[in-house]
Amino acid sequence: MDVRIFKTEEEIGAAAGKMFCDFVNSKPDCVLGFATGATPVPTYSYMADQCDKGNVTFKDVKTFNLDEYCDLPKEHKNSFYMFMYDNLFSKVDLKPENIDFLDGNTDPEAESARYAASIEAKGGIDIQLLGIGRNGHIAFNEPADEFSGEAYKIKLTDSTIEANSIYFDDIAMPRYAMTMGIGSIMKAKKIIFIATGASKAQAVHDMIKGEVTPKCPASILQNHADVTVFLDEAAASML
Ligand code: GLP
Repeated sequence: MDVRIFKTEEEIGAAAGKMFCDFVNSKPDCVLGFATGATPVPTYSYMADQCDKGNVTFKDVKTFNLDEYCDLPKEHKNSFYMFMYDNLFSKVDLKPENIDFLDGNTDPEAESARYAASIEAKGGIDIQLLGIGRNGHIAFNEPADEFSGEAYKIKLTDSTIEANSIYFDDIAMPRYAMTMGIGSIMKAKKIIFIATGASKAQAVHDMIKGEVTPKCPASILQNHADVTVFLDEAAASML
């Protein structure tokens, strides 16, 4: 793993965002995998700014996202699709037909097969952006007894529900989500991983220095050939 440590989230956003933009300029029809949460926002801001300045175009880029809630309309303000629309899709020249998202409101097995086939048909994900949960989860792959494979429907943990319920003021917080599995994530050709803040320090330590175990899903990244890790000093404090 190529571990790079920065002082601020903005510096990370610019460094990770530049890596994405440079790749898009080298392969304009590439396939990018995105994540939601607070961590990737500075990176999306940098990418949107570069597109606005005419330094990169996403017109031929195809995208996939890691996860989406079940039993929540795609257009609901708290859906992961709307998070991406607000933070990136509405700010760059991506074509709507090139944006693929897991559908949390259909048959999970059929949707898993559809998503895997769509990723394969587009040549696989060139760069997958990842964050991490405090317990070492990636996407919604929580600590488990074995590593998951392709996308599947998961019951959200009480801690995840508790952490996100504050955002749901008009509808009950979903109890389930569709998530890309560890197997589908590991097929990405390259991974850009970002973590900031002291709350992620233990998970980052376990990911990089711990045993490879599904008890810390992110530890599987030790087995990936091309992972660039962007950390601030707080998230790197236990390395
Ligand atoms: C959720 C998402 C993950 C994300 C994690 C951390 O669990 N499913 O994809 O990495 O939260 O979010 P944040 O970046 O806000 O800490």
